[in-house]
Amino acid sequence: MPGRIKKMGDPTNSFTILAIESSCDDTSAAIIKNGQILSNLIATQTVHEAYGGVVPELASRQHHQQIVPVVDQALESAGVTLRELDAIAFTQGPGLLGSLLVGCSFAKALALSLDIPLIAINHMEAHVLAHFVDEPRPQFPFMCLTVSGGHTQIVRMNGIHRLQVLGSTRDDAAGEAFDKIGKYLGLPYPAGPHVDKLAKEGNPLFSFPKPQVPGHDFSFSGLKTSVLYFLKDRIKKDPDFISKNLKDICASVQKTIVSILLDKLEQAAGREKITQVGIAGGVSANSELRRRFRESSESLGWDVFIPAFQYCTDNAGMIAMAAHYKFEQGVFVEHDVVPEPRLKI
Ligand code: KG4
Ligand code: ZN
Repeated sequence: MPGRIKKMGDPTNSFTILAIESSCDDTSAAIIKNGQILSNLIATQTVHEAYGGVVPELASRQHHQQIVPVVDQALESAGVTLRELDAIAFTQGPGLLGSLLVGCSFAKALALSLDIPLIAINHMEAHVLAHFVDEPRPQFPFMCLTVSGGHTQIVRMNGIHRLQVLGSTRDDAAGEAFDKIGKYLGLPYPAGPHVDKLAKEGNPLFSFPKPQVPGHDFSFSGLKTSVLYFLKDRIKKDPDFISKNLKDICASVQKTIVSILLDKLEQAAGREKITQVGIAGGVSANSELRRRFRESSESLGWDVFIPAFQYCTDNAGMIAMAAHYKFEQGVFVEHDVVPEPRLKI
Protein backbone atom coordinates (compact mmCIF):
# COMPACT_ATOMS: atom_id res chain seq x y z
CA MET A 1 0.00 0.00 0.00
CA PRO A 2 1.35 3.45 -0.85
CA GLY A 3 0.42 4.81 2.60
CA ARG A 4 -1.40 7.93 3.77
CA ILE A 5 -1.92 10.03 0.61
CA LYS A 6 -3.10 13.62 0.48
CA LYS A 7 -5.97 14.30 -1.92
CA MET A 8 -4.59 15.08 -5.41
CA GLY A 9 -5.85 17.87 -7.62
CA ASP A 10 -6.79 20.18 -4.75
CA PRO A 11 -5.11 23.53 -5.57
CA THR A 12 -4.99 24.44 -1.86
CA ASN A 13 -3.13 21.22 -1.16
CA SER A 14 0.34 21.82 0.21
CA PHE A 15 2.86 18.99 0.14
CA THR A 16 6.39 18.42 1.39
CA ILE A 17 8.73 15.69 0.11
CA LEU A 18 12.08 14.38 1.36
CA ALA A 19 14.27 13.23 -1.55
CA ILE A 20 17.35 11.02 -1.30
CA GLU A 21 20.11 10.53 -3.89
CA SER A 22 22.73 7.80 -3.43
CA SER A 23 23.41 6.45 -6.93
CA CYS A 24 27.20 6.84 -6.92
CA ASP A 25 29.58 8.55 -4.48
CA ASP A 26 27.51 11.49 -3.20
CA THR A 27 25.04 11.09 -0.35
CA SER A 28 22.43 13.79 -0.73
CA ALA A 29 19.07 14.74 0.79
CA ALA A 30 16.72 17.57 -0.15
CA ILE A 31 13.38 18.93 1.00
CA ILE A 32 10.88 20.33 -1.49
CA LYS A 33 7.64 22.04 -0.47
CA ASN A 34 5.08 22.89 -3.15
CA GLY A 35 7.77 22.83 -5.84
CA GLN A 36 10.23 25.05 -3.92
CA ILE A 37 13.49 23.48 -2.80
CA LEU A 38 14.05 24.38 0.86
CA SER A 39 17.33 22.51 1.34
CA ASN A 40 19.76 20.45 -0.71
CA LEU A 41 22.58 18.84 1.30
CA ILE A 42 25.39 16.94 -0.44
CA ALA A 43 28.08 14.87 1.34
CA THR A 44 30.80 14.09 -1.17
CA GLN A 45 32.95 11.00 -0.50
CA THR A 46 36.66 11.76 -0.58
CA VAL A 47 37.71 8.19 0.28
CA HIS A 48 37.91 7.32 -3.46
CA GLU A 49 40.60 9.89 -4.26
CA ALA A 50 43.35 7.50 -3.13
CA TYR A 51 42.15 4.88 -5.63
CA GLY A 52 41.79 7.14 -8.70
CA GLY A 53 38.12 6.21 -9.14
CA VAL A 54 34.95 5.22 -7.27
CA VAL A 55 35.30 1.93 -5.33
CA PRO A 56 31.70 0.57 -5.19
CA GLU A 57 32.02 -1.25 -1.84
CA LEU A 58 33.53 1.82 -0.15
CA ALA A 59 30.84 4.04 -1.67
CA SER A 60 28.09 1.88 -0.23
CA ARG A 61 29.67 1.85 3.26
CA GLN A 62 30.06 5.63 3.19
CA HIS A 63 26.39 6.05 2.24
CA HIS A 64 25.53 3.95 5.31
CA GLN A 65 27.49 6.28 7.54
CA GLN A 66 26.31 9.52 5.96
CA ILE A 67 22.65 9.00 5.18
CA VAL A 68 21.23 9.67 8.67
CA PRO A 69 23.22 12.87 9.36
CA VAL A 70 22.60 14.17 5.81
CA VAL A 71 18.84 13.61 6.08
CA ASP A 72 18.79 15.19 9.56
CA GLN A 73 20.63 18.26 8.29
CA ALA A 74 18.38 18.58 5.24
CA LEU A 75 15.29 18.55 7.50
CA GLU A 76 16.84 20.95 9.98
CA SER A 77 18.02 23.47 7.42
CA ALA A 78 14.56 23.39 5.77
CA GLY A 79 12.86 23.82 9.16
CA VAL A 80 10.73 20.74 8.49
CA THR A 81 10.01 17.83 10.85
CA LEU A 82 9.56 14.17 9.86
CA ARG A 83 5.84 14.39 10.74
CA GLU A 84 5.35 17.18 8.18
CA LEU A 85 6.54 14.97 5.28
CA ASP A 86 3.95 13.78 2.75
CA ALA A 87 6.20 11.45 0.73
CA ILE A 88 9.73 10.08 0.49
CA ALA A 89 11.50 9.98 -2.88
CA PHE A 90 14.68 8.12 -3.77
CA THR A 91 16.87 7.37 -6.78
CA GLN A 92 15.91 3.95 -8.12
CA GLY A 93 18.65 3.90 -10.81
CA PRO A 94 20.78 3.93 -12.84
CA GLY A 95 23.80 3.68 -10.56
CA LEU A 96 25.88 1.35 -8.41
CA LEU A 97 23.76 -1.41 -6.85
CA GLY A 98 25.29 -1.19 -3.35
CA SER A 99 24.93 2.61 -3.31
CA LEU A 100 21.35 2.58 -4.61
CA LEU A 101 20.40 -0.08 -2.05
CA VAL A 102 21.26 2.23 0.85
CA GLY A 103 19.03 5.07 -0.38
CA CYS A 104 16.22 2.73 -1.43
CA SER A 105 16.16 0.78 1.86
CA PHE A 106 16.36 3.95 3.94
CA ALA A 107 13.51 5.57 1.98
CA LYS A 108 11.32 2.45 2.27
CA ALA A 109 11.87 2.12 6.01
CA LEU A 110 11.13 5.80 6.66
CA ALA A 111 8.04 5.84 4.42
CA LEU A 112 6.74 2.72 6.14
CA SER A 113 7.30 4.10 9.63
CA LEU A 114 5.64 7.44 8.76
CA ASP A 115 2.89 5.71 6.74
CA ILE A 116 3.42 7.96 3.71
CA PRO A 117 3.92 7.08 0.02
CA LEU A 118 7.18 6.30 -1.75
CA ILE A 119 8.29 7.84 -5.04
CA ALA A 120 10.97 6.16 -7.23
CA ILE A 121 13.00 8.45 -9.48
CA ASN A 122 15.14 7.81 -12.54
CA HIS A 123 18.46 9.60 -11.96
CA MET A 124 18.91 10.54 -15.65
CA GLU A 125 15.40 11.97 -15.86
CA ALA A 126 16.15 14.00 -12.73
CA HIS A 127 19.32 15.51 -14.28
CA VAL A 128 17.09 16.93 -17.04
CA LEU A 129 14.41 18.08 -14.56
CA ALA A 130 17.10 20.09 -12.72
CA HIS A 131 16.32 22.75 -15.36
CA PHE A 132 12.88 23.18 -13.77
CA VAL A 133 14.11 24.11 -10.29
CA ASP A 134 14.60 27.81 -11.05
CA GLU A 135 13.12 30.35 -13.45
CA PRO A 136 13.32 30.75 -16.41
CA ARG A 137 12.15 27.22 -17.19
CA PRO A 138 12.52 25.73 -20.67
CA GLN A 139 9.54 25.42 -23.01
CA PHE A 140 8.75 22.13 -24.76
CA PRO A 141 10.18 20.60 -26.85
CA PHE A 142 13.42 20.96 -24.92
CA MET A 143 16.73 19.25 -25.63
CA CYS A 144 19.28 18.47 -22.93
CA LEU A 145 22.84 17.19 -23.11
CA THR A 146 23.51 15.40 -19.80
CA VAL A 147 27.25 14.96 -19.27
CA SER A 148 28.68 13.44 -16.11
CA GLY A 149 31.24 10.92 -14.90
CA GLY A 150 28.81 8.08 -15.60
CA HIS A 151 26.66 9.31 -18.49
CA THR A 152 26.61 11.19 -21.76
CA GLN A 153 23.15 11.48 -23.23
CA ILE A 154 21.11 13.72 -25.52
CA VAL A 155 17.47 13.74 -24.45
CA ARG A 156 14.42 15.28 -26.09
CA MET A 157 11.77 16.36 -23.62
CA ASN A 158 8.22 16.73 -24.91
CA GLY A 159 6.68 17.35 -21.48
CA ILE A 160 7.31 16.60 -17.80
CA HIS A 161 8.15 12.87 -17.56
CA ARG A 162 7.88 12.60 -21.38
CA LEU A 163 11.50 12.07 -22.30
CA GLN A 164 13.10 10.38 -25.28
CA VAL A 165 16.79 9.49 -25.50
CA LEU A 166 18.16 10.52 -28.90
CA GLY A 167 21.75 9.47 -28.33
CA SER A 168 24.10 8.15 -25.65
CA THR A 169 27.66 7.03 -25.26
CA ARG A 170 28.56 3.59 -26.55
CA ASP A 171 31.45 3.25 -24.09
CA ASP A 172 32.92 5.83 -21.70
CA ALA A 173 31.12 8.95 -20.51
CA ALA A 174 32.62 12.41 -21.22
CA GLY A 175 33.51 12.91 -17.53
CA GLU A 176 35.18 9.50 -17.49
CA ALA A 177 37.30 10.57 -20.49
CA PHE A 178 38.38 13.70 -18.59
CA ASP A 179 39.14 11.63 -15.48
CA LYS A 180 41.01 8.77 -17.18
CA ILE A 181 43.09 11.02 -19.41
CA GLY A 182 43.80 13.20 -16.37
CA LYS A 183 45.03 10.09 -14.58
CA TYR A 184 47.56 9.43 -17.40
CA LEU A 185 48.73 13.02 -16.86
CA GLY A 186 49.21 12.39 -13.14
CA LEU A 187 46.29 14.60 -12.04
CA PRO A 188 44.22 13.81 -8.91
CA TYR A 189 40.77 12.18 -9.13
CA PRO A 190 38.37 13.47 -10.32
CA ALA A 191 40.60 15.10 -12.94
CA GLY A 192 37.92 17.02 -14.89
CA PRO A 193 38.15 20.27 -12.87
CA HIS A 194 42.01 20.09 -12.89
CA VAL A 195 42.11 19.66 -16.68
CA ASP A 196 39.74 22.64 -16.98
CA LYS A 197 41.93 24.83 -14.75
CA LEU A 198 45.20 23.91 -16.47
CA ALA A 199 43.67 24.27 -19.95
CA LYS A 200 42.90 27.93 -19.22
CA GLU A 201 46.64 28.65 -19.28
CA GLY A 202 47.44 26.41 -22.25
CA ASN A 203 46.89 26.31 -26.01
CA PRO A 204 45.28 23.45 -27.95
CA LEU A 205 48.47 22.70 -29.92
CA PHE A 206 47.94 18.95 -30.25
CA SER A 207 45.15 17.40 -32.25
CA PHE A 208 43.42 14.11 -31.53
CA PRO A 209 41.06 12.24 -33.86
CA LYS A 210 37.33 12.61 -33.28
CA PRO A 211 35.33 9.36 -33.40
CA GLN A 212 32.99 8.75 -36.34
CA VAL A 213 29.89 7.47 -34.58
CA PRO A 214 26.62 7.35 -36.52
CA GLY A 215 23.50 9.25 -35.40
CA HIS A 216 23.45 11.11 -32.11
CA ASP A 217 25.57 8.55 -30.21
CA PHE A 218 28.97 9.26 -28.67
CA SER A 219 32.20 7.34 -28.08
CA PHE A 220 35.14 8.40 -25.94
CA SER A 221 37.20 5.22 -25.51
CA GLY A 222 39.09 5.77 -28.82
CA LEU A 223 40.13 9.25 -27.73
CA LYS A 224 41.38 7.88 -24.41
CA THR A 225 43.52 5.28 -26.24
CA SER A 226 44.84 7.76 -28.79
CA VAL A 227 45.92 10.18 -26.02
CA LEU A 228 47.62 7.27 -24.22
CA TYR A 229 49.60 6.22 -27.36
CA PHE A 230 50.42 9.87 -28.14
CA LEU A 231 51.85 10.32 -24.63
CA LYS A 232 53.81 7.04 -24.74
CA ASP A 233 55.31 8.01 -28.09
CA ARG A 234 56.33 11.53 -26.96
CA ILE A 235 57.69 10.28 -23.62
CA LYS A 236 60.02 7.88 -25.51
CA LYS A 237 61.62 10.93 -27.13
CA ASP A 238 61.47 13.17 -24.06
CA PRO A 239 60.75 11.67 -20.60
CA ASP A 240 59.63 15.11 -19.32
CA PHE A 241 57.16 15.64 -22.16
CA ILE A 242 54.10 15.70 -19.87
CA SER A 243 55.46 18.13 -17.30
CA LYS A 244 56.78 20.46 -20.02
CA ASN A 245 53.51 20.47 -21.98
CA LEU A 246 50.83 19.77 -19.36
CA LYS A 247 48.76 22.92 -19.93
CA ASP A 248 48.78 22.54 -23.73
CA ILE A 249 47.89 18.83 -23.50
CA CYS A 250 44.95 19.70 -21.19
CA ALA A 251 43.77 22.46 -23.56
CA SER A 252 43.99 20.06 -26.53
CA VAL A 253 42.13 17.20 -24.80
CA GLN A 254 39.46 19.56 -23.47
CA LYS A 255 38.95 21.15 -26.90
CA THR A 256 38.51 17.70 -28.49
CA ILE A 257 36.00 16.45 -25.87
CA VAL A 258 34.01 19.68 -26.03
CA SER A 259 33.85 19.70 -29.82
CA ILE A 260 32.66 16.07 -29.86
CA LEU A 261 29.86 17.08 -27.45
CA LEU A 262 28.88 20.32 -29.19
CA ASP A 263 28.99 18.88 -32.73
CA LYS A 264 26.53 16.17 -31.70
CA LEU A 265 24.29 18.56 -29.78
CA GLU A 266 24.13 21.01 -32.72
CA GLN A 267 23.39 18.16 -35.11
CA ALA A 268 20.60 16.77 -32.90
CA ALA A 269 19.01 20.17 -32.21
CA GLY A 270 19.12 21.00 -35.94
CA ARG A 271 17.56 17.71 -36.97
CA GLU A 272 14.81 17.93 -34.33
CA LYS A 273 14.32 21.68 -35.01
CA ILE A 274 14.63 22.49 -31.31
CA THR A 275 15.84 25.87 -30.03
CA GLN A 276 15.32 25.36 -26.27
CA VAL A 277 18.60 23.69 -25.37
CA GLY A 278 20.28 22.87 -22.04
CA ILE A 279 23.29 21.16 -20.55
CA ALA A 280 23.38 19.34 -17.20
CA GLY A 281 25.59 16.99 -15.16
CA GLY A 282 29.00 17.55 -13.55
CA VAL A 283 30.84 18.19 -16.83
CA SER A 284 28.52 21.13 -17.55
CA ALA A 285 30.76 23.02 -15.09
CA ASN A 286 33.52 22.91 -17.73
CA SER A 287 34.42 26.45 -18.79
CA GLU A 288 35.20 25.57 -22.42
CA LEU A 289 31.93 23.63 -22.75
CA ARG A 290 30.00 26.63 -21.37
CA ARG A 291 31.84 29.03 -23.69
CA ARG A 292 31.22 26.91 -26.80
CA PHE A 293 27.61 26.26 -25.73
CA ARG A 294 26.93 30.01 -25.51
CA GLU A 295 28.72 30.55 -28.83
CA SER A 296 26.48 27.94 -30.50
CA SER A 297 23.42 29.53 -28.93
CA GLU A 298 24.31 32.89 -30.48
CA SER A 299 24.96 31.51 -33.95
CA LEU A 300 21.98 29.12 -33.94
CA GLY A 301 19.46 31.27 -32.04
CA TRP A 302 19.03 28.85 -29.12
CA ASP A 303 17.59 29.79 -25.74
CA VAL A 304 20.13 28.16 -23.44
CA PHE A 305 19.64 26.66 -19.97
CA ILE A 306 22.27 25.63 -17.43
CA PRO A 307 21.05 24.75 -13.90
CA ALA A 308 22.74 26.36 -10.87
CA PHE A 309 25.90 24.38 -10.10
CA GLN A 310 24.45 22.64 -6.99
CA TYR A 311 21.78 21.11 -9.28
CA CYS A 312 24.29 20.09 -12.00
CA THR A 313 26.37 17.55 -10.08
CA ASP A 314 24.69 14.56 -8.39
CA ASN A 315 22.24 16.04 -5.87
CA ALA A 316 18.92 15.26 -4.21
CA GLY A 317 17.44 18.64 -5.27
CA MET A 318 16.93 17.34 -8.79
CA ILE A 319 15.42 14.10 -7.38
CA ALA A 320 13.07 16.28 -5.31
CA MET A 321 12.03 18.27 -8.42
CA ALA A 322 11.20 15.07 -10.31
CA ALA A 323 9.35 13.76 -7.22
CA HIS A 324 7.28 16.95 -7.01
CA TYR A 325 5.81 16.29 -10.47
CA LYS A 326 5.22 12.59 -9.67
CA PHE A 327 3.42 13.53 -6.45
CA GLU A 328 1.18 15.93 -8.40
CA GLN A 329 0.32 13.10 -10.78
CA GLY A 330 -0.12 10.59 -7.92
CA VAL A 331 2.61 8.28 -9.24
CA PHE A 332 3.82 6.19 -6.28
CA VAL A 333 5.51 2.81 -5.87
CA GLU A 334 4.84 -0.14 -3.59
CA HIS A 335 7.23 -1.24 -0.83
CA ASP A 336 8.51 -4.19 -2.87
CA VAL A 337 10.29 -1.74 -5.21
CA VAL A 338 13.98 -2.58 -5.79
CA PRO A 339 16.95 -0.59 -7.13
CA GLU A 340 17.56 -0.85 -10.87
CA PRO A 341 21.29 -0.28 -11.59
CA ARG A 342 20.65 -0.24 -15.35
CA LEU A 343 17.40 1.73 -15.32
CA LYS A 344 16.78 3.52 -18.65
CA ILE A 345 14.73 6.60 -19.53
O1 KG4 B 1 27.48 14.69 -12.17
P1 KG4 B 1 28.71 14.37 -11.40
O2 KG4 B 1 29.02 15.17 -10.18
O3 KG4 B 1 28.73 12.87 -10.95
C1 KG4 B 1 28.47 11.80 -11.80
O4 KG4 B 1 27.28 11.43 -11.96
O5 KG4 B 1 29.45 11.30 -12.38
O6 KG4 B 1 29.93 14.49 -12.44
C2 KG4 B 1 31.25 14.24 -12.06
C3 KG4 B 1 32.09 14.34 -13.32
C4 KG4 B 1 33.53 13.87 -13.08
O7 KG4 B 1 33.90 13.05 -14.16
C5 KG4 B 1 34.32 15.19 -13.11
O8 KG4 B 1 35.64 15.05 -13.54
C6 KG4 B 1 33.50 16.00 -14.08
O9 KG4 B 1 32.15 15.70 -13.76
N1 KG4 B 1 33.73 17.44 -13.94
C7 KG4 B 1 34.34 18.19 -14.88
C8 KG4 B 1 34.41 19.51 -14.36
N2 KG4 B 1 33.82 19.52 -13.13
C9 KG4 B 1 33.39 18.25 -12.89
N3 KG4 B 1 34.83 17.85 -16.08
C10 KG4 B 1 35.39 18.83 -16.80
N4 KG4 B 1 35.51 20.12 -16.37
C11 KG4 B 1 35.03 20.50 -15.17
N5 KG4 B 1 35.14 21.77 -14.77
ZN1 ZN C 1 24.51 11.94 -12.28
